[in-house]
Amino acid sequence: MLTLGIETSCDETAVAVLDQDYRVLSNLIYSQSCHKDFGGVVPEIASREHLLKINSLCIAALHSAGVDLSQIGLIAATAGPGLLGALIVGLSYAKGLAYSLDIPLIGVNHIYAHITANRVEYPYLEFPFLALVISGGHTMLLDCISSNNYSLLGTTVDDAAGEAFDKIGKLMGLDYPCGSKFAELAHKGEPDFHKFPRAMINSGDLNFSFSGLKTAVINYIKSKEPVFLIENECNIFASIQEAMVEVLERKCKNAIKQLGYKKLVLAGGVACNKRLKSVLKSGLKGCQLFFPRNELCTDNGAMIAAHGILQYKSGTFENRLDVQPFSTFNKLT
Ligand code: KG4
Ligand code: ZN
Repeated sequence: MLTLGIETSCDETAVAVLDQDYRVLSNLIYSQSCHKDFGGVVPEIASREHLLKINSLCIAALHSAGVDLSQIGLIAATAGPGLLGALIVGLSYAKGLAYSLDIPLIGVNHIYAHITANRVEYPYLEFPFLALVISGGHTMLLDCISSNNYSLLGTTVDDAAGEAFDKIGKLMGLDYPCGSKFAELAHKGEPDFHKFPRAMINSGDLNFSFSGLKTAVINYIKSKEPVFLIENECNIFASIQEAMVEVLERKCKNAIKQLGYKKLVLAGGVACNKRLKSVLKSGLKGCQLFFPRNELCTDNGAMIAAHGILQYKSGTFENRLDVQPFSTFNKLT
């Protein structure tokens, strides 16, 4: 059976076709560049762009997979969290298709789908495991008990990790989204050049805070001469990145200890970060580290299809044409 995955939660229109073994037959993404002039995503414009692109992208994804609609047996579409107007476009399109084809529709939780992206690389990844979801909108540690049982252990009290990379990157003159360029420059620098604050590292819980780091960077920039900042650009990027990586590693270590698990799964756009992966690999001895390839870390349709397949296989999914979109994280599996 083939699954069509549809993602429209923010500024990426994405459609993918996967087979029942999580093999990707096609995975197409249209990234909306129209928000660049606004310095962030404009929800109304995002919805309109999704509406413009969704049908042609879906046709292209089927074509690229070499299949036609009659071969699709399941549709998975992001129900939330995300921008409501944007979600309504993908979800309504998915409902129409599912109804006309008389096949099941699964409304997918975008956060869980980021985790399930790992199944494309490791189809037999077994529960339970710890997941660190680090994206532009979320930073979460989750106890993944089974395919429909996830428990939130900790989250950010302010900015998400990706948001911090983006906001600080912007301060330092990078274009949005800044994470990838930030990491590239940091790679050439010295992580111990300056010790930026590691907020909440010893808080005793599994929560995070990244907005104070932004303030510390603003104050640091103000205190230095422009020439110094230019000469040490890579060192500064490396030092900021290190502050975030160290906190993420410490919280993962604490969570692994608390749960007694031996598996850590990374998910979300910040999971592309090489420094984070190498620090986790060397720091979490005896713990297996899983992460998807970069194009499956950032928003994509394959992860939505993969989570639909996981739900379908577990037999606990709800085929509901009245599934509602939701803007904030909730318990929908
Ligand atoms: O998961 P994602 O595509 O979007 C959300 O669901 O929010 O993640 C996008 C985030 C952006 O904030 C981007 O700056 C960040 O992932 N990112 C990175 C890297 N590549 C992308 N952050 C750190 N290091 C990277 N290499
Ligand atoms: Zn995402």
